[in-house]
Order: sequence, then structure tokens, then C-alpha cells
Amino acid sequence: MVGSHFIEIAANRCAAAGITDPRATGLKVDRFDPIDLRDAARTRELTARSPETTIVNFAAMTDVDAVEQERPVESTAPSGSAWSVNALAAGAIAEGARSSGKYLVHVSTDFVFDGSEGPYDESAPRAPFSERLSWYGWTKSEGERRVVAADPTAAVLRISYPFRASFPGKVDFARRIVRSYRGGTLPPLYVDQQISPTWVPDVSAALAGLLARRPAGVVHVASPGLTSPYEFATELIGRIESRPVTLARGSLAGSPRDPRRAPRPRLGGLSTGRAASLGFPLTSWREGIESLVRAEEGFR
Ligand SMILES: NC(=O)c1ccc[n+]([C@@H]2O[C@H](COP(=O)([O-])OP(=O)(O)OC[C@H]3O[C@@H](n4cnc5c(N)ncnc54)[C@H](OP(=O)(O)O)[C@@H]3O)[C@@H](O)[C@H]2O)c1
Repeated sequence: MVGSHFIEIAANRCAAAGITDPRATGLKVDRFDPIDLRDAARTRELTARSPETTIVNFAAMTDVDAVEQERPVESTAPSGSAWSVNALAAGAIAEGARSSGKYLVHVSTDFVFDGSEGPYDESAPRAPFSERLSWYGWTKSEGERRVVAADPTAAVLRISYPFRASFPGKVDFARRIVRSYRGGTLPPLYVDQQISPTWVPDVSAALAGLLARRPAGVVHVASPGLTSPYEFATELIGRIESRPVTLARGSLAGSPRDPRRAPRPRLGGLSTGRAASLGFPLTSWREGIESLVRAEEGFR
């Protein structure tokens, strides 16, 4: 979802690697190298020998609730696809990039924080392993740790609840709200969860800036203002319906833990000081909704 937007704006100026050839969905790339990132040795080798001078790692196992089912019990060693892709492959890509002198941007998430005291700036320490952190969040956190250890010149670009216009391939945060509202299945939405949704075109713009200037370290790209799922959905549905709407209110703190769902950061959100100082565009969640509704006439 996020990577394909970057390919759209970098049309014919990038190559892709992964399982699914992006050309199958009409995207334009110079070359496609098939790779299953669960093979760390091949991943390292492919990264090192590819002719490109910059690499962006968008790939991850991103279904947070499905990934939660891979959480190891008690003290068993981590394993499973999310561990292989989100943690081990991230490290292997960084090793391959470092050994061949390539600049790497590794895309990550606010779920590396447990949501006890957000919003988080770039210097905030990632959360330790605990029941408060999703297994997805821990695998992504371990991925970040391995990237920085293997390649101190790499950048880690964290984003949060990305949403975009015109992408049939995956239902994003905003479109999930619209679909469930229309299907009459919208659950009560949390008023007490703090989030900073990322407008996906900002990610592509930040990547263009990073690739041009090659800074190392963590950069956050997200809405400069915080919101809650309830407030975001109320604004989105209200804009689509062109009238004020009242949705059902829920509380994350007041909800019993559902064992089928991964824990979510409650006081999450990303502070974006570094991106602002680098001059990257940072679209507020309200402006993002505005652009989305304008782009998606079919919403009406
Ligand atoms: N979505 C969110 O809410 C969110 C929030 C914060 C951060 N992020 C981060 O942003 C990045 C992009 O997320 P997204 O939502 O765009 O993800 P996405 O749409 O689920 O895309 C993930 C990509 O990873 C590829 N992939 C997964 N397993 C692979 C494997 N074993 N080998 C090769 N490729 C594999 C998938 O390939 P196939 O298409 O072939 O399956 C897919 O192209 C990720 O790093 C994610 O952690 C996402």
C-alpha cells in the first residue's frame, strides 16, 4: 500500500524486489527481482549485488491481529513469518546495504511504542518487550534494532495509520471506516486512543527528500496534530455525507482485552520535529481527509 505509491511517483526510475511483481498491477518498474524475504541469506546477497545505490524496505507482515497469533509462548525462541520478515530480513537488508555502500531507508511504525506516554519523538526509546506491546510491534522494533546495528548510516522512517486515495489493493485505516459505516457494521470507536494518521503522499515526498540528502537515524512522518479513531471517523463520515454525523463512542481503556486482537498503543502518535526541520510536507489528518474525499468522488 505505501510502497506502491512511491513506485507510482518514481515510475520507471526504480526497480522492485519481493514476491509479487508490481507490474502485474500496472505499476512501472525498471526491473523486478523475485525474493522471499524469509530467506535471510538470499535477501542479504540480493541487496548487496543489486546495481541500485539506494534501497527502501517497505516490506513487512502488517496484519497486526494475524501476526499476534505468532507470539511465542513463554520462553520459546521467536519464530514465524513476521519474525523472519519484520526482524531478520530487515537486518539482512541492512547488512547487504552496508557491505555494498548503499543508502538504506527502513520503513517502520509507531507500534514500536507501547502507548503509555505518547506522542513520541524520534529520540524516545522503543518499548521493551511486554504484554502491552503487540508481537507485530516487537518484530518491527527488533527489525529497527538490527538495521541500526548493521548499518549506522541507514534511516528509519516511522509512519502511523497510513491512509491514501485510490488504492484497490488493501483496505487502509480510512477506507475500513467507510466500508463498515456503509455496511452498518461500524463498531464503537475509541475516544481515548491517541493517534497521528499519516497521509501516504507525505511518505513518498519524505522518501524523495531522504534519498536526495541521505541523513541517518530516525524520522517520523505523520499528522502534526493528534486525533482519536472516533474523531477521525466522525470527520471522515461527516465530510462524505456532507452533514454532521454522530457515531458510537468506545473506550480502549474501558474495553476488556480481546484475546483475538493485538494490543494497540493507547497514548500513541508520533511527533514530527525532525521531518519539519528537514522541510518535508506534513499533512494534518483533517487535510488528509479533505484530499481523500476530494480524490474519491465515488465516496459520495
Ligand atoms: N499499514 C499500516 O497501518 C502501517 C502502519 C505503520 C507502519 N507501517 C509500515 O509501513 C510499511 C508498509 O506497510 P503497508 O501497509 O504498505 O504494507 P502492505 O500493503 O501489507 O505491504 C507489505 C508488502 O510486504 C511484502 N512482503 C510481505 N512478506 C514478504 C516476504 N516474505 N517476502 C517478500 N515480500 C514480502 C508484501 O508482498 P506481497 O504483496 O507479495 O504479499 C507487500 O508488498 C511496513 O514496513 C509497515 O510495517 C504500516
